[in-house]
Amino acid sequence: MIGPSAGPPQAGPHPLGGSTAVPSGRGVILLAPMEGLLDHMLRDVLTRVGGIDRCVSEFIRITDMLMPNKVFTRIVPELLNGGRTPAGVPVRAQLLGSDPVCMAENAAKLAALGPEGIDLNFGCPAKCVNRHRGGAVLLDEPELIADIVGAVRRAVPAHIPVSAKMRLGYLDASRTLECALAMVGAGADELVIHARTKLDGYKPPAYWERIAEVRAAVAVPVVANGEIWTAADAQTCIERSGCSDLMLGRGMVADPGLALAIRSPGAEPLPWGQLLPLMQDFFALVHQHVATRHQAGRLKQWLHYLRRRYPEAEEAYQRVRTINAPDELALALFGAPHIKEAA
Ligand SMILES: Cc1cc2nc3c(=O)[nH]c(=O)nc-3n(C[C@H](O)[C@H](O)[C@H](O)COP(=O)(O)O)c2cc1C
Repeated sequence: MIGPSAGPPQAGPHPLGGSTAVPSGRGVILLAPMEGLLDHMLRDVLTRVGGIDRCVSEFIRITDMLMPNKVFTRIVPELLNGGRTPAGVPVRAQLLGSDPVCMAENAAKLAALGPEGIDLNFGCPAKCVNRHRGGAVLLDEPELIADIVGAVRRAVPAHIPVSAKMRLGYLDASRTLECALAMVGAGADELVIHARTKLDGYKPPAYWERIAEVRAAVAVPVVANGEIWTAADAQTCIERSGCSDLMLGRGMVADPGLALAIRSPGAEPLPWGQLLPLMQDFFALVHQHVATRHQAGRLKQWLHYLRRRYPEAEEAYQRVRTINAPDELALALFGAPHIKEAA
């Protein structure tokens, strides 16, 4: 490991395994927060595969109430396991909200549960969230961003990191640096930048080169995110952003071996035969935690993403897409009539 991103890019061997890269950074790979997709169950199985250094939870929405602990532990049950997934990978809990006082009070309550860190969401594009002045819309209000980050930083014990995740902007990228400087100036220890504006949504491309300006201007680690689907994408992102710290979202869901592949270029991909038991374990967790009528949908949602990487997933998806009964789905996919009990 080498030191955090700061100052101009350094020449030298790449911490993630490439040879010609120039960026500085720690070479860490984070698993992205994805509300409705990448929850504690999928974090559990994806972190078993390896290659992920840290996760960020889906957002916990803060309004004007002090959340009961059970809200924090429902979204981040890893808090009951020392803040780690069963595979031992730390999980940072993410808060979303716009009132500095409420955010600070809730962050202090969350901090008492011992998360690895607290992340603040300044990237959510959802209309219902933005309408209530949360998520990406705050990127038009850097002063408020500074108030939120500062209030949370002061409310949380110094040993608990506070990071922030942002997009390039709301409607355009003209204030990216201003927002990043507001976050760091108010005490954020690390920034994750999803290299698109809210207006860009999830439409490719991601503008990785725009992250480089922030990376060069701040003295905390900057993590590049967005549209990394392959090890080759990761290499291009590293070169353009100047960051060797990456966050992977949909790419890890589509290819659970992606983080390992980024670390060891040329390594064999994770075989389908190794994925099936992981899917079976995931379905067992879903069976335990999710209402029966939504269970098949959760497995098919993952299978849908896997189609991008695995032809076997495409075949399986076509075969099971109309099945809604969990037992029937388990039989069709795993050849087992009953859903395996969660470990
Ligand atoms: C279904 C879905 C849910 C998401 N939920 C969150 C969230 O709760 N918090 C957050 O900061 N970002 C969220 N994101 C954004 C991702 O963390 C990530 O920034 C984005 O997907 C780009 O990375 P990727 O191309 O590797 O997927 C979500 C994205 C998706 C597709």
